[in-house]
Amino acid sequence: MRAAQITRFGDWQAVKVADVPVPVPRASEVLVRVAASSINSVDVSHREGQLKILTGRRIPQGLGIDLVGTVESVGTAVRGFSPGERVWGIRAGASGMKNETGLTADFAVVDARRLSRAPESLGDVEAASLVVGGYTALRALKDVARLQPGERVLIRGGTGGVGSAAIQIAAALGARVAVLASASTDRIVRDLGAIDFFDYSTATPASVGKVDVLMDTVGTGLLSWRRTLAPNGRMVGVAFDSLAGLASIGVSSVFASRRIQTFAGQPPAGSLEALGEFLDANGIRGLVHAIYPIEEIAEAHRVFSAGRVRGKIVITAAS
Ligand SMILES: NC(=O)c1ccc[n+]([C@@H]2O[C@H](COP(=O)([O-])OP(=O)(O)OC[C@H]3O[C@@H](n4cnc5c(N)ncnc54)[C@H](OP(=O)(O)O)[C@@H]3O)[C@@H](O)[C@H]2O)c1
Repeated sequence: MRAAQITRFGDWQAVKVADVPVPVPRASEVLVRVAASSINSVDVSHREGQLKILTGRRIPQGLGIDLVGTVESVGTAVRGFSPGERVWGIRAGASGMKNETGLTADFAVVDARRLSRAPESLGDVEAASLVVGGYTALRALKDVARLQPGERVLIRGGTGGVGSAAIQIAAALGARVAVLASASTDRIVRDLGAIDFFDYSTATPASVGKVDVLMDTVGTGLLSWRRTLAPNGRMVGVAFDSLAGLASIGVSSVFASRRIQTFAGQPPAGSLEALGEFLDANGIRGLVHAIYPIEEIAEAHRVFSAGRVRGKIVITAAS
């Protein structure tokens, strides 16, 4: 079968498609025939070698942390999934990144606790575009920030993979959504459900005004943007790409009421089930920038790394 791999740590040209054996599920895992997967920021960090401390240096390593597909077979201890069932799944955290096969492949194994029925209202490509962004946004806005109907929320990075899901999820939760995104994306973010659009190259905390919740997917200038919080405001940051961003999150924890909350790693069991039900119930759509067959994964990485991607790049595979 085909699997997307990095054969060295580096730029998009380090990405290859290899012919590898179909993985065998362990007792707690499910083997999935992959229909679609997507490119996430963490794939770029992985490819560039920024996660070596966690993944080790042994090469090749498989790429991809999300998938939509059908169950091929199940491990001996798995209950509740049967062959042919349509599922979606995630493999976050660095441990699985050491393997020769990630989730961007014709077949992939996923821990049964990170797999659930795929949402019925979305086709494979759109569903793949919402696995990671949708989970991250729903957790940040509903579980961590406890966003309430009528509150004003600011999404920083509104046309990204996480941000485009966050706008729709915040609107579905009844919030008034303001967005910081790059110039000329006004129409896109309003179509997703935003009321206010601000160009990030010119906007300031003062021009945006007060917000009850700030969800940051950018990772820079956190302490400055925190000034937009109204009394009792809550802030959630999910990007850890800059050391300065991490430091800001750390410093903020000194001030309990203005703490920048965050989370990372594997989603709690049941997260994808809850996300699928939420997306189905609220008619949420995926924002898909482009679709590439797995053979063109390197080109897809080149386009992702060039920036100005609107939503997600999706990779199609076996099914
Ligand atoms: N904690 C978790 O569990 C978790 C889960 C998923 C993702 N993440 C992290 O969340 C971050 C975002 O992921 P993603 O997949 O959404 O990335 P993405 O698709 O690359 O989106 C990032 C967005 O930020 C925009 N942007 C860049 N600079 C900005 C600025 N100064 N102000 C406002 N917007 C700005 C970009 O717009 P332009 O390209 O137009 O400049 C882009 O649309 C990454 O750091 C990722 O690692 C964390």
